[in-house]
Amino acid sequence: MSKVNGTIRRAVRGDLQALVALEALFPGDRLSAASFHHLLARGHADLWVYELAGEIRADAVVLYRRRSKRARLYSLITHPDYRACGCAGQLLALAENAAHQRGCTQIGLEVRADNDIARGLYERRGYRPCKLLAGFYDDGASALRMEKSLTNLRSAKAVAGNEASHRQHVTIPPGSS
Ligand SMILES: CC(C)(COP(=O)(O)OP(=O)(O)OC[C@H]1O[C@@H](n2cnc3c(N)ncnc32)[C@H](O)[C@@H]1OP(=O)(O)O)[C@@H](O)C(=O)NCCC(=O)NCCS
Repeated sequence: MSKVNGTIRRAVRGDLQALVALEALFPGDRLSAASFHHLLARGHADLWVYELAGEIRADAVVLYRRRSKRARLYSLITHPDYRACGCAGQLLALAENAAHQRGCTQIGLEVRADNDIARGLYERRGYRPCKLLAGFYDDGASALRMEKSLTNLRSAKAVAGNEASHRQHVTIPPGSS
């Protein structure tokens, strides 16, 4: 195991290809290039990327609606070679803080009911299951809706406009850096 520097920053248009490539690694419902383009151009969304050695290895997408204090974690993905290194946990913490700073009091998400790793990640960070959604995904799989209150969230030291300061060491499995 070796340590490298990882950086979380907001996604920009130049990241579109890398974001689509990351999505393409996973089966099931995916965010298309057109969707990313829309979100980056004028969507009410925060898109975060986790960069290691100049490559995007994880991303998180949070959607907002006008007049709603509920944010929606729409996507959270880590490249298979960089799993269990803390990328998703750190992205999630930053995404929650960004939503909190926008005035949201709650963040919700849908996760495949059989996705034990993701469910565990969310549960350990305070997300609670609130509804089972049968046949939610294109392949007929069910989703679990989970919610977390943001009212007691501690504000991050820096979020919008200062993502470059979010440098941290993460542990990378052998042979993957
Ligand atoms: C779910 C996912 C985003 C987690 O990403 P990650 O970068 O590996 O997550 P982290 O390294 O931050 O680890 C988060 C937690 O999951 C645990 N974890 C990660 N991979 C694990 C594995 N293979 N087996 C068991 N636990 C694992 C970590 O130990 C950590 O535990 P903690 O809550 O005690 O800190 C990643 O597995 C993934 O991209 N899966 C496919 C897409 C997906 O399912 N996204 C979620 C959709 S809602």
